[in-house]
Amino acid sequence: MRVLGIESSCDETAAAVVEDGTRLLSNVVASSMDLHAKYGGVVPEIAARSHIESITPVVEQALSDAKCTWDDIDAIAVTYGAGLGGCLLVGVMTARTLAITKKKPLYAINHVEGHVYANFLTETNLEGYVLPTEAPKFPLLALIVSGGHSQLVLFKDHFDYTLLGQTHDDAIGEAFDKVAKILGLPYPGGPSLSKTAEHGDDSAFKFPKAKLEAPYDYSFSGPKTAVLRAVQQLCGKDHDFPSFKLAELLSESQIADVAASFQRTAVETVVDKTVKAFEEFSPASVVIGGGVAANKELRKQLSERLPIEIHYTDPKLCTDNGAMIATLGCFTALNNRPTADPYSLDIAPQLSM
Ligand code: KG4
Ligand code: ZN
Repeated sequence: MRVLGIESSCDETAAAVVEDGTRLLSNVVASSMDLHAKYGGVVPEIAARSHIESITPVVEQALSDAKCTWDDIDAIAVTYGAGLGGCLLVGVMTARTLAITKKKPLYAINHVEGHVYANFLTETNLEGYVLPTEAPKFPLLALIVSGGHSQLVLFKDHFDYTLLGQTHDDAIGEAFDKVAKILGLPYPGGPSLSKTAEHGDDSAFKFPKAKLEAPYDYSFSGPKTAVLRAVQQLCGKDHDFPSFKLAELLSESQIADVAASFQRTAVETVVDKTVKAFEEFSPASVVIGGGVAANKELRKQLSERLPIEIHYTDPKLCTDNGAMIATLGCFTALNNRPTADPYSLDIAPQLSM
């Protein structure tokens, strides 16, 4: 079973071929990130236009890297939500057209579920990938931490899961990006903040963790505002002073200390919930997915605090990619789940788990 996966929900145009849900044959990602850098965040129209330009070459490259012709492909899987409407449309219309013209079954994939499935890839001949040696086992506790999503989910089996909790406001990656902006660090904020944090003192500032009634829910809007207030205080400025000018008044070591302290608190927030869920549900495996799953501090804290070994996947499979969509597409097909109608599949920008 070989599935071509197509992903275009945000700023990455991606396609990949996966065999049997375990073997990664190709993984091609064209990012429009550089085009958004000067705006400090993804501009939906620019991202959508960039998808239109990149999608056909990216799909062709994914087939060629996998040494596949269309005859070798058994099905097409595509992200239909959640994501930016104009961006999702490009991937979905491409997949629908290919499914009709190449006569392949089509599977509609939930992007957030896809992030979990990146962890099922255990084999590849592609250079530069370090994959786990074994697939996760059920029951499976999944922490999804990305720019648009923060969720804790318990999977009893494939397609049988319970959402334990999620963020009430900002996703954790979004909070990393916004704090990085306050600190004058380059976009995308997550990686640049965590790099800067390596030189800082993570106990220099005490940022609050939001206390919510639901045990597995969290919030990142409060901690983000706490960072802004701390920086204003450090600079001797109040809320009338433009926040984008604050960073110019900070020293390098102050920036590093704020970054390290925020990172520690944000990571601790999701790790606390993951450890609590582990104790309550005793899962056989724990996996993490989404862009923030590439964060070293998150991997360190989880490994220190959980009593089981986590088989982390390659950071390239944590941020948005087609391989995770193709992998979930394989399991969708192997479990005889319904196909999507290539003449009518619609996008679902607000799709939840
Ligand atoms: O999964 P992803 O590529 O897109 C979404 O589905 O949202 O995640 C992107 C997010 C961004 O917020 C980015 O800043 C964050 O993941 N990110 C990181 C790291 N690498 C990417 N955050 C913290 N540390 C990292 N190393
Ligand atoms: Zn994502």
